Amino acid sequence: MKLYKVRRLLLIVALLSLSLISYVSSGMAAPRTYIGVEACKMCHENQYKIWEASAHAKAYDALPAKEKTNHQCLSCHTTRGTAAFPNVQCEACHGPGSDYVDMDTMKNFKKVWDAGLNRHAAETCVNCHNKNSPTFRGFDFKTYWMEIMH
Ligand code: HEC
Ligand code: HEC
Ligand code: HEC
Ligand code: HEC
Repeated sequence: MKLYKVRRLLLIVALLSLSLISYVSSGMAAPRTYIGVEACKMCHENQYKIWEASAHAKAYDALPAKEKTNHQCLSCHTTRGTAAFPNVQCEACHGPGSDYVDMDTMKNFKKVWDAGLNRHAAETCVNCHNKNSPTFRGFDFKTYWMEIMH
């Protein structure tokens, strides 16, 4: 192929992929984000009080100072693997709240699930309560749930 033809081909390929990228990203909804436990407290005072007294509210503080930046530890001792969301907050089990926290959505079972509230919060426990935890003591849902029931 002549050099100018190769260049033209490359240009066409570049333009096509650019338009593909913008097409795909315009079709995607904004990703759901974590909004933090304070936002849930406003309407769920009782759940908040139980949570505040639980080990989950102190999970990040429990890490020794030198491990507070260790990503392996943060994956279970924070809400989304970062110290910016310390401890095991509501959204670690219930899912990121950006799209479901408004009153209209929260009151509607169907809507709230479509908006990202995790219907299977009880299944999240074993994501962290497992053998990858250096201090794993075993896990029995009934016994553990009794301790944090809200
Ligand atoms: C504006 C008030 C409001 C805020 C803010 C709010 N909720 Fe709710 N939430 C409600 C109401 C009202 C209900 C339905 C009645 C009930 O169960 O108390 C509800 C129900 C729920 C349920 C039960 C749903 C089900 O399927 O049974 C969960 C879980 C929940 N909220 C979690 C959260 C979490 C986590 C946050 C913070 C990210 C949050 N809520 C923030 C008002 C709110
Ligand atoms: C796979 C998830 C996971 C990882 C990774 C993890 N932990 Fe934990 N950690 C837990 C759980 C769950 C508990 C609660 C203990 C239990 O019931 O098994 C816990 C408890 C603790 C405690 C409280 C003391 C105790 O014995 O209960 C300390 C301290 C701790 N972890 C430190 C660390 C450090 C340091 C790291 C990183 C090297 C780490 N953890 C990594 C899940 C994890
Ligand atoms: C360790 C995981 C975990 C954390 C952290 C957690 N929850 Fe839950 N929550 C659950 C489970 C499991 C249920 C039982 C129902 C289910 O399976 O969804 C539940 C139930 C609920 C319900 C429904 C109660 C009812 O009467 O039906 C509400 C509301 C709720 N949680 C709010 C919160 C709020 C607010 C926080 C933070 C302050 C929080 N949760 C923290 C796991 C968690
Ligand atoms: C994001 C990770 C994560 C999830 C999900 C999670 N936990 Fe935990 N849990 C922890 C960590 C970390 C600790 C230790 C905190 C500490 O000792 O300061 C802990 C501690 C506990 C404790 C205190 C007893 C002990 O051995 O320290 C109970 C009870 C518990 N979790 C129950 C549950 C239940 C029930 C669920 C599911 C509904 C659940 N957890 C989901 C990370 C998690």
